[in-house]
Amino acid sequence: MRVLLVGGGGREHALAWKIAQSPLVSKLYCAPGNAGIAGVAECVDIPAEEVQALLKFARREKIDLTVVGPEAPLAAGIVDRFEHSGLAIFGPSQRAAELEGSKVFAKHILRKHAIPTARYDVFETVDAAEEHVRKASFPLVIKADGLAAGKGVSVCHRREEAMDAIARMMKERVFGDAGNRVVVEECLFGEEASILALTDGRTIVPLPSSQDHKRVNDGDKGPNTGGMGAYSPAPVITPEQGARIEREIIIPIVHAMNAEERRYKGVVYAGVMMTDDGPRVLEFNVRFGDPETQPILARLKGDLVPVLKAIAEGNLQKADLAWDPRPAVCVVMASGGYPGHYEKGKVIAGIDAAAALGDVVVFHAGTALKDGKVVTAGGRVLGVTALGADIRAAIARAYDAVKLIRFEGAHYRTDIGARALARAN
Ligand code: AMP
Ligand code: GLY
Repeated sequence: MRVLLVGGGGREHALAWKIAQSPLVSKLYCAPGNAGIAGVAECVDIPAEEVQALLKFARREKIDLTVVGPEAPLAAGIVDRFEHSGLAIFGPSQRAAELEGSKVFAKHILRKHAIPTARYDVFETVDAAEEHVRKASFPLVIKADGLAAGKGVSVCHRREEAMDAIARMMKERVFGDAGNRVVVEECLFGEEASILALTDGRTIVPLPSSQDHKRVNDGDKGPNTGGMGAYSPAPVITPEQGARIEREIIIPIVHAMNAEERRYKGVVYAGVMMTDDGPRVLEFNVRFGDPETQPILARLKGDLVPVLKAIAEGNLQKADLAWDPRPAVCVVMASGGYPGHYEKGKVIAGIDAAAALGDVVVFHAGTALKDGKVVTAGGRVLGVTALGADIRAAIARAYDAVKLIRFEGAHYRTDIGARALARAN
């Protein structure tokens, strides 16, 4: 089977690593890929958003299955375009991808189908949003409707912060059209977790739970990032809570999308807050999480490709995915300055030594090859991932590996997995 993977981050390296191991795969391409992906796939110099160029490539190369990593091509309708041309592709259609692409759509469908989430209102004008915020009690959360690269959410503790967020989104339009409408919602409290499931719209296969670390600094301090690390499983999701999330959130949202004639195929990712009143949806993503995919796939024992293919064909009968019971931890090493401005092109040393440690995989994110050397090429550079007999051992092993890797300005959190560790004690 000839496979094309779209994207070039840490999530895609984890997917490429897994897909390349499948005996069903004779050739794996990745567009655009990165320096690590180049070790397991042939990288193609086409950006992930260039749907037309990707389609042309897939037709020319007779690709049997395309797997999409990031949200932008999904929101741009890559799945519809490929299917229209008779090509099998893993991911939701453009209309189904609105579950991530529009927070207003996501909130409305949640409310309509009585799926638990924060109470909310939607505003289409600055005046109406400001009027609401003047009377509201705090804290509250303001969200730009559209895609904003993970930066469209403000948790506001004071009225001035909320007014500022509205001004930035709706007057200064820092997220462009994504800020045409805002959602103002109740602030929820609890521990967050990520719940991913694979589905063809009928059969649903939940993946093990995981937890991201969104803030840049230890102790969840500092600005939000794309994710500074993750681990799987997340012990906050007990088997009972996992079953409840499946019953109250995952199965209902897949059915709700069908009912809205937006049949959902691909991976559905629910960001969930475990509140005292039970799990509540914070957001949906229509793709694999990054960096959650790194520890999740590090634990996957079987072959992912038949499942991806069956979903692309809309015909997933069942999937018995076997998982390594050991926990996995992924520590993200980032460029100096990230999530703000950072320089690229710093030579990375020590990857081979780190990868030589047992039970360690070094997933590349923002890396490139330059004059035969691996250099930094993005904000999040590497996702150093390790398995361990227990969470403590997995954390220790991941940091042993991190300490062998060096590049100028490198920074990482030193407390990835701390919540799981606290629950283990
Ligand atoms: P989202 O992109 O919607 O996941 O939001 C990003 C982050 O904002 C989440 O991971 C939460 O930490 C936080 N957040 C979003 N919605 C809420 C809420 N209703 N209450 C508290 N925190 C929230
Ligand atoms: N880890 C968060 C995300 O993938 O959106």
